Amino acid sequence: MKICCGTDIIEIGRIKNSIENKKTGKAFIEKVFTQNEIAYCESKKGQKYQHYAARFAAKEAAFKAFSEQIKDKYSISWKDIEILNNEQGRPKLNLIGIHLENVENIDLSISHCKEYAVANVTLLLEV
Ligand SMILES: CC(C)(COP(=O)(O)OP(=O)(O)OC[C@H]1O[C@@H](n2cnc3c(N)ncnc32)[C@H](O)[C@@H]1OP(=O)(O)O)[C@@H](O)C(=O)NCCC(=O)NCCS
Repeated sequence: MKICCGTDIIEIGRIKNSIENKKTGKAFIEKVFTQNEIAYCESKKGQKYQHYAARFAAKEAAFKAFSEQIKDKYSISWKDIEILNNEQGRPKLNLIGIHLENVENIDLSISHCKEYAVANVTLLLEV
């Protein structure tokens, strides 16, 4: 058994600026976030930037956790890693078109406050 972890922290203001950019904001959202993620974040109204930033951090954290298993990092795009929440609000990763060998489990934890969002991904491999 082998465990691979990935962590990321991001300033929420950075994601807010990217989204609010009149020229590039829409393209940024559509490049990075899936329709499910956009629907979830937009439902949070005034808090939406925290949720967008948390998903951005979660994708970066997942990439770090997966990095040893993925030979060509340019083969992954932002929307290949989707963050969904179950009915209790617990987040999980939905991998779209990414195949990782020998995965026993993947877990994700997210937290955010006014200024920062953090995410941690743990990958458990059967080796
Ligand atoms: C769910 C809970 C832990 C969220 O904590 P919070 O400090 O309000 O908010 P944070 O910013 O740290 O975390 C928010 C993230 O928690 C995650 N989350 C929500 N519900 C969750 C759950 N049931 N399990 C795991 N993660 C959860 C989500 O990813 C959420 O972010 P998202 O909506 O963008 O996906 C909190 O609202 C809660 O219910 N706490 C109960 C604590 C308690 O009962 N303590 C006494 C016993 S220890």
